[in-house]
Amino acid sequence: MIRIEHLTKRYGGFTAVDDISFVAQPGRVTGFLGPNGAGKSTALRMLTHLTPATSGSALVLGRRYEDLPNPSRHVGVMLDAAAQHPGRTGREVLQLAAMVTGMGRSRVDEMLDLVGLERSEASRRVKNYSLGMRQRLGLAGALMGRPQILILDEPANGLDPAGIRWMRGLLRDFADQGGTVLLSSHLLHEVELVADDLVMIGHGRIVAQGRLADLLTTRPGCVADAEDRTAFADALRAVGIAFTGRADGAAEIEADAARVGRVALDAGVPLTLLRPADGTRLEDMFLQLTADTARGGPGENALGQNAPEQDATARTAPAREETRA
Ligand SMILES: Nc1ncnc2c1ncn2[C@@H]1O[C@H](COP(=O)(O)OP(=O)(O)OP(=O)(O)O)[C@@H](O)[C@H]1O
Ligand SMILES: [Mg+2]
Repeated sequence: MIRIEHLTKRYGGFTAVDDISFVAQPGRVTGFLGPNGAGKSTALRMLTHLTPATSGSALVLGRRYEDLPNPSRHVGVMLDAAAQHPGRTGREVLQLAAMVTGMGRSRVDEMLDLVGLERSEASRRVKNYSLGMRQRLGLAGALMGRPQILILDEPANGLDPAGIRWMRGLLRDFADQGGTVLLSSHLLHEVELVADDLVMIGHGRIVAQGRLADLLTTRPGCVADAEDRTAFADALRAVGIAFTGRADGAAEIEADAARVGRVALDAGVPLTLLRPADGTRLEDMFLQLTADTARGGPGENALGQNAPEQDATARTAPAREETRA
């Protein structure tokens, strides 16, 4: 178990992590989600004693990380996969990890197999590794000492879809065997696929936490369209139902489908589309957080898609299906 209480980090007058408290339970994968700069890495660095906390506490298995007798036998940590020693081969990196954790040499090949690195890849220098290969190597190192806890900062970065699926399975198995997994991500979709519990932070503060299934409640409202959009809009306005126009011309309406259907019927406006709203409240919240911290310019948004022209939420459903298939 990981227990974080009132953990805070200040850099001068800037608060990077602001009084966060949460527990990551054994047998569960806890996703630590937040936009770029939210404070995820800083929190994980405090947890693993790489950065001193300004105040508050972070306990792993009931102790401070630095007080664990042989930390790598209890806690597997992968914070920056890109920062591994460039001049060593993958095999050498793992041989060192085996020595440090007191594991036998045979464990190296076992770990290579586990993370899907070929023998020939293991004999190459890390500087020639792709980011995905570094993530696999980092994970092999983290798992070397048969830890009960895994702390991973953005482990899915650089992995292709098959790699992400593989990692999801690996983390699931680890948790199912009683392990505790805490992993960070800046992509909601990634966390959604693997986490049981979620802690969402923005500007250093926790803005939502709980079981993922509870947090993923669907957004209220519906999407509807009519051939005569003007008449439909008038009918909605007449009964005081708020709505906004979407990029595709349909209306996003703040009332449930049954009510909107009745309003349209009463007004004699035939509908061409009527269905529940897309997405979830969590998604809305995360998009809002991300928009707050956006640096501007087109690029990847919170959902791992290309920047939408107007309506981010309208596209989430098909994209999700593609990746889940
Ligand atoms: N050593 C430092 N000195 C000053 N500010 C820092 C330092 N380390 C981090 N910060 C600031 O703290 C904030 C949180 O950074 P952090 O790296 O924890 O974010 P993150 O959530 O991991 O973001 P990302 O998704 O981009 O990895 C940022 O504004 C960052 O600039
Ligand atoms: Mg980070």
